[in-house]
Amino acid sequence: MSKERTFEGRTHAVDAVAKHYDLTTDATHLVMGDHMHFGLFANQDDSLAKATVGMVDFAVAGCGLGKHSHVLDVGCGSGSAAIYLHEKFGCRVTGISTSARGIELARKNAVGRGDAFEFVVADALRTGLPAESCDMVFIMETACHVRDLLALMRESLRVLKPGGRLVITDPVARKDLAGHIAFMLMNGPRLVPMKFAWGPGIHMRNPGTYAMHCHQAGFRTVELIDLSEHVKPSMDRWEQRALEVRDALMKTSEGRSTFRKFTTGSEHLRFVFEQGFFGHMLLRARKHQSPRAIPAL
Ligand SMILES: C[S@@+](CC[C@H](N)C(=O)[O-])C[C@H]1O[C@@H](n2cnc3c(N)ncnc32)[C@H](O)[C@@H]1O
Repeated sequence: MSKERTFEGRTHAVDAVAKHYDLTTDATHLVMGDHMHFGLFANQDDSLAKATVGMVDFAVAGCGLGKHSHVLDVGCGSGSAAIYLHEKFGCRVTGISTSARGIELARKNAVGRGDAFEFVVADALRTGLPAESCDMVFIMETACHVRDLLALMRESLRVLKPGGRLVITDPVARKDLAGHIAFMLMNGPRLVPMKFAWGPGIHMRNPGTYAMHCHQAGFRTVELIDLSEHVKPSMDRWEQRALEVRDALMKTSEGRSTFRKFTTGSEHLRFVFEQGFFGHMLLRARKHQSPRAIPAL
């Protein structure tokens, strides 16, 4: 079930992100719960646990997953979404992450839940999966860690079967260039501690950039949904939870920096969300059933 495959040719940037998650994953789960992503709040007073599962549900809704489907979860954290998707739809899931600690936890979490999982240390750009082997590529809050977005879209298209779906959720930049420069001029100093709090290798891009690279890679149908308003309570929940679990956090590796990330870091992040500088989006794209039947544009 759990083949040892390591990835080669990774860059220093990829290494830095992998190391960050190796060190912080345990502490992060104390604050964020099973999932390491924003919650999607249908109601402002929903719990974080309900909202993070709600994000997974919303992302894959209507995508036709079933027991014959094979999902590739890119940046699978500790396997929570993979396990959830299998339990809900019966699908087979391959989870990959550059974090060896994340993969170790995912394998532990999958014990006793059947043989529908494979968790592998691998980079998003070198998944190692055969061409046309997946029905869905699911990338939750991980594309923002990948510098070469076009290469990520191309790798996703390669492993998808014809008609397969690409599902991405990510924090995004929301201002146009002029708005971005104006915001940076007025609030630059505030962004420095936020950048340090949230760790290395995060690329904030406009939703349009994702869509453009998707089309460029060869996806024909691309849908973007703005989730910004519905994820905002996440930051309050993280801050509140970090205060509640402060003592337990301090006993973990990177507990102190994780505490700062979810207290001071959440405060700055809330500010940039309120100002409309950052937001959150869902992208769904589909590989055409028979690409050659469509004439080139
Ligand atoms: C914010 S966490 C999201 C985890 C999970 N998708 C979730 O929603 O709970 C980002 C994940 O992406 C992984 N990751 C970061 N860069 C990656 C890369 N280049 N290739 C594969 N995984 C990567 C991290 O190790 C971590 O598991």
